[in-house]
Amino acid sequence: MIRKCDNNDFEDICSIINDAAEAYNGVIPEDCWKTPYMSREELRHEIEEGVVFWVYEENGELIAVMGTQPVQAVVLIRHAYVRTDRQNQGIGSRLLSELRRKTNRPILIGTWADASWAIRFYEKHGFQLVSPVEKERLLMRYWSIPDRQIETSVVLADQRWFSTLG
Ligand SMILES: CC(C)(COP(=O)(O)OP(=O)(O)OC[C@H]1O[C@@H](n2cnc3c(N)ncnc32)[C@H](O)[C@@H]1OP(=O)(O)O)[C@@H](O)C(=O)NCCC(=O)NCCS
Repeated sequence: MIRKCDNNDFEDICSIINDAAEAYNGVIPEDCWKTPYMSREELRHEIEEGVVFWVYEENGELIAVMGTQPVQAVVLIRHAYVRTDRQNQGIGSRLLSELRRKTNRPILIGTWADASWAIRFYEKHGFQLVSPVEKERLLMRYWSIPDRQIETSVVLADQRWFSTLG
């Protein structure tokens, strides 16, 4: 079942993010990695900034989370994480498809340039990488992330976004 998170889900969301983010350990630049990958304070901050988390639940247990954040005229997909032992079983795809159905705005997604599996995952869903110049412009316009993360990230956009370029 996919549903919007409620206050009781906070700890589970935090634990799913930190479990799944282990995939980055040793892959993304060393100075971008930390333990925990996302602290409770950071997660709280993200929610305060408007990230709405959706969860994938099975038999009362949370397996995956994915956030959406409306910013200006677009929607960002933020913090997509499936528990390590349940990755590659179609759960991320189900969450992504469900969240895409909920908006008719262009969708943008940022991820680490080194997270090749995540880039493949989004490309499989029809998202395309934007140029390096464009990614910098977009990350500065729609995200609030450190310069180093801008440097080491990529942005993928859906067809709707590309068609707004004319
Ligand atoms: C990226 C992620 C959200 C995808 O969700 P998922 O449920 O694992 O993915 P799905 O099963 O729906 O889709 C499978 C596709 O995703 C990619 N993928 C997912 N997990 C993978 C893995 N462990 N190794 C290689 N490719 C993987 C592949 O493209 C795969 O397609 P393929 O089997 O045809 O090669 C999930 O794997 C995850 O949490 N990864 C770690 C954290 C992360 O990278 N988050 C993205 C942040 S933007």
